[in-house]
This record gives sequence, C-alpha cells and structure tokens, in this order.
Amino acid sequence: MTVTAAYELDLPMYDPTGLDRDQRVALLADCQRRHWLARTPLGFGVMRYADIVAILRERRFHSALSLIPQMQGVAGTSMEERRPSILSMEGDEHTRVRRLVAPAFTPAAANRLRPYMGEVIAELIDAIDARGECEFVADVCDPYPIPIICELLGAPRADWQRFSQWATDIFRIFNQNLAEDFPAIERASAELDEYVRALVEDRRRAPSDDLLSVLIAAEEAGDRLSTDELVRLAEAGLMAGTDTTRNQLASCVALFGAHPDQWAKFVADPSLAPRVVDETMRFLGAVQGTVRVASEAIEYRDVVFPQGTLMFASLAAANRDPDVYSEPMQFDITRESAAPHMSFGSGIHYCLGAHLARAELQEALVVLAQRWPNLALAGTVEWKPDTFGIWGPARLPVQW
Ligand code: HEM
Repeated sequence: MTVTAAYELDLPMYDPTGLDRDQRVALLADCQRRHWLARTPLGFGVMRYADIVAILRERRFHSALSLIPQMQGVAGTSMEERRPSILSMEGDEHTRVRRLVAPAFTPAAANRLRPYMGEVIAELIDAIDARGECEFVADVCDPYPIPIICELLGAPRADWQRFSQWATDIFRIFNQNLAEDFPAIERASAELDEYVRALVEDRRRAPSDDLLSVLIAAEEAGDRLSTDELVRLAEAGLMAGTDTTRNQLASCVALFGAHPDQWAKFVADPSLAPRVVDETMRFLGAVQGTVRVASEAIEYRDVVFPQGTLMFASLAAANRDPDVYSEPMQFDITRESAAPHMSFGSGIHYCLGAHLARAELQEALVVLAQRWPNLALAGTVEWKPDTFGIWGPARLPVQW
C-alpha cells in the first residue's frame, strides 16, 4: 500500500469565508462527496463522520486550543503562558483531571438543576411576555446560561452580572482580534481567577452541595484537585458552557422559525424535547468544528500528516453525512434511531457538559412551547460570520 504525504494530495478546497449559510452547507456537502479530506485556510479539513470520529479518538492528534495565541500573533505574552485548561490538556494530565471531574457531570447532576433552569427561562419570558415580540438572542439566549453556571458553581445571585461580563470579555479570545482584545481578556481572566479562588477557599471551610464542593471532595486513589486546577475548571466551565448554550438555543429557535410545521409538532407533544434537542444539534450545531494538531507524524488511511499539521474536524459535515443519516438535509424532530450527532465532539475531549447542556436546552424549549405556542420569526435572522468556532444567530427577531 502506498503512503502519500498529505500535502501531495489533490483535494477539494473548503473555505467558508464570505459565504452565506446555504452556500456553506452546499460547499461542505460537495467537499464531503468528493473526498474525506479537504484543504482549509487552517490546514486540512476532515469531512466524513467515520474519519472525524477516528481523528478525534486518535490520541496523538492534540487539541489546538493552546495554539490560538500563536495563531493570532500574541505569542510571547502572558496569554501564551496561561495554565492549560482541561480543553487543551493531553495524555496523563488530561486523564487524571477528567477522572476526578467526570463523576460530577452525570445525568443526575444535570437533572437536579432542571427545576432551576425552568425558573430562569420563565423569569426571562415573564420580563418580555407582554411585548409580543423580542430580539431573542439578546433578550433570552445571552442571559440564560449565566445564572445556571453560577448556580452550578455555587456563586451568589448578586454576582451574576460580573460573571456575565467576564464571560463576554473572555470570549473575545475567539474574535480573531486577539492583539487588540488581549488586555480586556487578561483583566477579566484575572478577576475571575481571584473570585473563584475565594469561592474555593470558602467552600473548603464550609462545603455545600454545589459543583465546587463536589469537586473539592472528589478523590480517586488518594489524588485530589489542587486550588489552581479547581480555578481552571471553573473558568473552563464558564468558557465552554456559556456561549455554546446561547448559540445552540438561538439556532434551535431560528430553525423552528424556518420550519413552523416542526414547531407545531413539538407544541402538540413537548415530550419530544430530547429528540428535538438532538435533531436541532445535528442539523445546526453551535460548534461547527474543532481543531487538532499532529503531535508527531501520523499515518491515517495511507496518508501521512507531518508533525504540526492542523486538522479541522468538521462536526457540521459529520452531522450531515449521507452514509450515516438518511435524508441528512431534512430537519425532522421525529427522526428515529439516528446515530449520535457530533456536536458534542468525540474522544477524550467529548463535552463534559453534554448532560447539562441537553437539560438546559430541553427545559428552555419546553417552557417556550408552553408559553409561546405561536412563536414565529418576526424578521430576517442574521447569522454570525462563520469562523471555525462557536456559531449561531447574531440577531433573531421573534413574535408570539
Ligand atoms: C449546546 C451546548 C454545548 C455544545 C454544543 C458543546 C460542545 C462541545 C464540544 C464540541 C466539545 C469538544 C471540543 C473539542 O473536542 O475540541 C466540548 C468540550 C467541553 N465542554 Fe461543551 N458544549 C456545550 C455545553 C457545555 C456546558 C454547558 C459545559 C459545562 C458547564 C461544557 C463543558 C465542556 C468542557 C469542560 C469541555 C472539555 C472537555 C475535555 O476537554 O475533556 N460544555 N463541548
């Protein structure tokens, strides 16, 4: 069998820059049909479900998250020296932290927060109900996950606004403008760091039933998480669990706006919520893809990827792979026995908050279906520019 160097392959080009959503979906499908691999502005794109699962499970492909500062021209600053979060850890270090943390992210732990999630979404709806219309991203999606993360961590209500601001500032890391945003990110990160450190000390003195207390108590074979690790984890939860949930909820509602027949089906039977969430995440996942870097030369399917090669795993392409889903371009909330969607990733970095995110989305959608059965678009949905990261509607005018 001949082995080819990746750079010698004649591959389709996947570059979504400047394309609208339909054009991007069409380009993705075309690339996927032509080859399992594509060229992208970032490196190579992996385009098919089975290959994406394989690449994400290949432990020699490492998370490329720690390369962001370097890629955006702020190498050599304290940004680059930040301690790794679970998202960018690899090998034994990742295994150790994940083992200690995973038992705190069970379905039961997510289910405990469901009544609270219902209260949060109901409060947001109450505040705007009489208006009959709103901009759904700013009014509902943006505020929704913050109190839930705060409740999860055990931060008091009075501090929610500060969390919201820290989240907004820290998310600038994905804005492709790191050189300019760097001071705000650093400031927010330092404040969050100090805040969580104090919270950890507090919980060490007086444990409660929140996540932080559970993580402080977590122990495996005599091993425990240090204060530094707890602070990093809280920050990772805020980073990984906020904007994702916001964009995913907005994408769900935008999708229902474009498919009123499916919304009517859901309103008639809210017990479909788990399937609704999985089908909307398949059809329009908030995380379009994730990037890996080859930690050494890696051979896969008779192709050699040299050390340092960047691989963009297109979760969006996996989710519409015709070899895996029948009629992948159809949005169907009654779809049965479909393969698991890839919007939570795969392999060692599979989303730690998947149960929590599913619960948040299900609770929000059920309350929406009950309170606003006539929910409909009230204008054009504006989508964020397609970067390779977290994506969804920028503006979503709705009425009820
Ligand atoms: C709809 C909402 C969400 C989506 C679409 C999502 C998606 C993802 C994806 C695709 C990954 C894997 C990234 C990679 O492989 O590079 C991931 C990892 C992660 N997610 Fe989520 N996520 C969501 C919500 C949450 C929530 C609510 C939390 C927790 C509070 C969370 C915490 C994490 C953490 C800690 C990781 C890293 C796990 C590891 O590296 O071992 N996520 N998420």
